[in-house]
Amino acid sequence: MKFFPIFVETKSAHVLVTGGGETALQKLRLLSKTEATITVVAPEFDDDILSFIKDFPNINLLERSFETDDVQGKRLVYAAHDDEVLDTVVADAARAASVLVNVVDTPTQCDFLTPSLVERAPITVAIGTEGTAPMIARDIKALLDKNLPANLGDLARQAIRIRETLKKRIDDGRARLRVWERLMQGAFRRAVLRGDQPGAALALEAEILAELDHSATGNEDDSNKPKGSVALIGAGPGNPEYLTLKAHRLLQEADVLVVDRLANPDILDYARRDAKRIYVGKQAGKPSTSQEEINQIIVREAMDGSRVVRLKGGDPSIFGRLQEELAACQLFGIEVEVVPGISAAQAASASIKLPLTFRGEHRSITLLTAATKDQVVAADVVEFMKTGRPFAIYMGVRIASEIVETLKQAGADLTSEVIIVENASHDHERVFSSSLQDLTLTIKTLSIKGPAILFVGLSYEDMGLSADNRIQSIEVSNVVSLNRKVI
Ligand SMILES: C[S@@+](CC[C@H](N)C(=O)[O-])C[C@H]1O[C@@H](n2cnc3c(N)ncnc32)[C@H](O)[C@@H]1O
Repeated sequence: MKFFPIFVETKSAHVLVTGGGETALQKLRLLSKTEATITVVAPEFDDDILSFIKDFPNINLLERSFETDDVQGKRLVYAAHDDEVLDTVVADAARAASVLVNVVDTPTQCDFLTPSLVERAPITVAIGTEGTAPMIARDIKALLDKNLPANLGDLARQAIRIRETLKKRIDDGRARLRVWERLMQGAFRRAVLRGDQPGAALALEAEILAELDHSATGNEDDSNKPKGSVALIGAGPGNPEYLTLKAHRLLQEADVLVVDRLANPDILDYARRDAKRIYVGKQAGKPSTSQEEINQIIVREAMDGSRVVRLKGGDPSIFGRLQEELAACQLFGIEVEVVPGISAAQAASASIKLPLTFRGEHRSITLLTAATKDQVVAADVVEFMKTGRPFAIYMGVRIASEIVETLKQAGADLTSEVIIVENASHDHERVFSSSLQDLTLTIKTLSIKGPAILFVGLSYEDMGLSADNRIQSIEVSNVVSLNRKVI
């Protein structure tokens, strides 16, 4: 290790920056976050520096050339003239006075380096590469930024606040340590991170009482054991890049993952390797874990104290049996949160560049499932056809012939166009167009088997947009539009 990482106290420090241009300004931006007194020396200053320092009374400008004595009494010196000769003069003067110096962007001339920082005050993560590869530091910073909760600092502040309470109420040091571990991992942490003060207070009390009970009685029967939590997370339509930052973080924190068939397995790479994985794939028409069993699994794991992530395809609130899973958690008093995901219709619309609403024309879009509980085509499909308003059908491919038949019997106009997006957002996504009357034949001929969204009433032409050039259709009637690939 050529450079030893330390954190320097700044409240009583005086820091010197030499230079009046962009390089000096970059250092000032960093230093302005500290409590140090800062002096900047340069024969002239860029306007950007002059306007930047207005908000910082602790930054003083000396408009003149550097003098050797300027380094006296300073804790740190940044040579930021961007001029090798001038910066060497500053570095020599600092070393002669035993003051640590950084010659910006010249690691070989530096006594200290400024690391890349991930800030969650009072928590700061410093990343150093000894000046070898700033790009690597940038990558690590991005990774940490993505994974550390934005308000992690609140947790640190709360830790300071509750330290005395814990000391007073739990004498035994080892017992206190156990409580600290649970507070920093469990319900207390989650409540603080979501800004829920009353929830945090309750969780703190529950942990203290559970520990006191355990210490007094040696009771291991877990009746007072704090419950875990459940996060019902939308994993999006399949492409891992559509996962939200929050979903990503909760995945990493989960002890148990309860996973849907439609959730892309690549997404599980973001979870902890040692997390328990329970697959509850539901596949239309095939026997699989029933919803009731899924509810029981979620509740059982959370009651056992685990942080459970229930990963669901798309958005959990859209045809995702969210109500049942929420109700099961609420019934057992389990802390539950819902993390939205990108729903299939949104992903499909984005992918084929076909907006779901259109100013002045389409003021609403309806998401509907064509199949009812008993696998019968729902009457609302007919209702929606009558309104002429656009809609997106989920779970419609398998029962397409029934949908068409129902519409036919209701006297609907079967020349309307249907745009079908199969496996939206996946590498193997496909797009098709058909008239309603040719829908069944199109699905059969083009072998559409993956999950798909059917858009009815949305038209590129009406919106003055170019159609997606991947659109495939079969030539069975006169509805095939120009500039589309005909199979
Ligand atoms: C049980 S629903 C779940 C919907 C999910 N909660 C959502 O918001 O997208 C399953 C249906 O969603 C649609 N679906 C899911 N993933 C899809 C994808 N990647 N591309 C197209 N449609 C998809 C299909 O209509 C599929 O039959």
